[in-house]
Amino acid sequence: MRTVLVLNGPNLDKLGTREPDVYGSLSLADIKSACEEFGAAHDLAIDFRQSNDEAVIIGWLHEAADTKTPIVFNPAAFTHYSVAIRDAAAMCSAPIIEVHLSNPIKREEFRHTSLISGIAHGTISGFGAQSYLLALQAMLSL
Ligand code: DQA
Repeated sequence: MRTVLVLNGPNLDKLGTREPDVYGSLSLADIKSACEEFGAAHDLAIDFRQSNDEAVIIGWLHEAADTKTPIVFNPAAFTHYSVAIRDAAAMCSAPIIEVHLSNPIKREEFRHTSLISGIAHGTISGFGAQSYLLALQAMLSL
């Protein structure tokens, strides 16, 4: 069975109560369950992780680079400024699909830059929790 790492950056552990008008009312645990349900139906093992710590995420990206594991990646705020996360992601040879719950391009200007898009296979933004499932669906054909 193929494993997909679903990697989540800072503050996404607060989904459900964090700005629900922007990010919706589902918790990260709800999104994890939805991803696992999709995985079970499509023969994918889902390795779902979240950290608020840049160094921890970099360590997980190194691990994914070594194991050639594909990644559905919501880098959250790190999207917009972390060269270190981008450099670690650039070492991953299996596909990375960048996801966002909101559509950053519709929001403040500082969210219009993604350091991750340039090394990702593609980006899915603006569909709430559904962004993750669309990314997993896309991963099936990569
Ligand atoms: C986000 C968008 C980012 O701009 C923001 O910093 C987040 C969440 C999203 O999923 O919409 O934390 O990645």
